[in-house]
Amino acid sequence: MVKHMQLGLFVTGTDTGVGKTHISAILAHRLKQRGLMVRPRKPVESGCQPIVGGLMPVDAATLQAAAGSDELLEHICPYRFESALSPERAAALADKRLTLADVSSVCRQGVAESEFLLVEGAGGFYSPLAAEVLNADLAVALSLPVLLVTSDRLGAINQTLLAVEAIKRRGLTLAAVVVNQVAVGLDPHMQNATELSRWLGEPVLTTGYQHTNAAEPTWQLPCPALTNLIDRLTRGL
Ligand SMILES: Nc1ncnc2c1ncn2[C@@H]1O[C@H](COP(=O)(O)OP(=O)(O)OP(=O)(O)O)[C@@H](O)[C@H]1O
Ligand SMILES: [Mg+2]
Repeated sequence: MVKHMQLGLFVTGTDTGVGKTHISAILAHRLKQRGLMVRPRKPVESGCQPIVGGLMPVDAATLQAAAGSDELLEHICPYRFESALSPERAAALADKRLTLADVSSVCRQGVAESEFLLVEGAGGFYSPLAAEVLNADLAVALSLPVLLVTSDRLGAINQTLLAVEAIKRRGLTLAAVVVNQVAVGLDPHMQNATELSRWLGEPVLTTGYQHTNAAEPTWQLPCPALTNLIDRLTRGL
């Protein structure tokens, strides 16, 4: 069993748009409520919106708000790119070349071992994150347990089993698999969570579709499916 020195979690997905930020924000909010100092990091964000004087990393800003963090967005997300492409490609288009050392050091910077380092990757586990660097390489460099988020849709079983195999092959601890419902109108006969539990031989978590409510951000809505995971994370797995 890997010994984790740093309290924290690396949140990855089977794909882009599966709910990594959504789930990370809920976790950040709940962990803060448990009294932990949560340090969110989205070290590289592509597809940033141009604003006056720079680029706005929307995922990082969401994590900052959910964690109630007073850290500067520059610390949470120092590497921002406008192209909505893989960070490696988006950086190349901006004439930048990020190394694994660049990306891992900004994740660790300013984070004590007793504080909770919550890192959201970009895209999926094998998506390119920096020059010749996959998300998987950053997870290994940080030696954090991995949370795998998958979207509840046709194809999820294949994508999830492939990603779990890759995570285990890298010697990382799989904290949990979250089957997240990103859209309404699922075929009621599809039972991704049940079937994934059977294939994996362990329970998976399911988070339902949450209707957005202008008055309350989604991370503040109840999400009992994650309570047990939050208990375990609070104790350091
Ligand atoms: N359980 C859910 N209920 C309702 N909407 C959701 C849910 N999960 C995710 N979404 C919505 O789906 C979209 C994609 O989710 P999110 O941005 O969290 O994905 P991601 O994996 O972080 O994507 P990226 O690869 O761009 O970082 C967002 O608009 C988000 O608000
Ligand atoms: Mg995201």
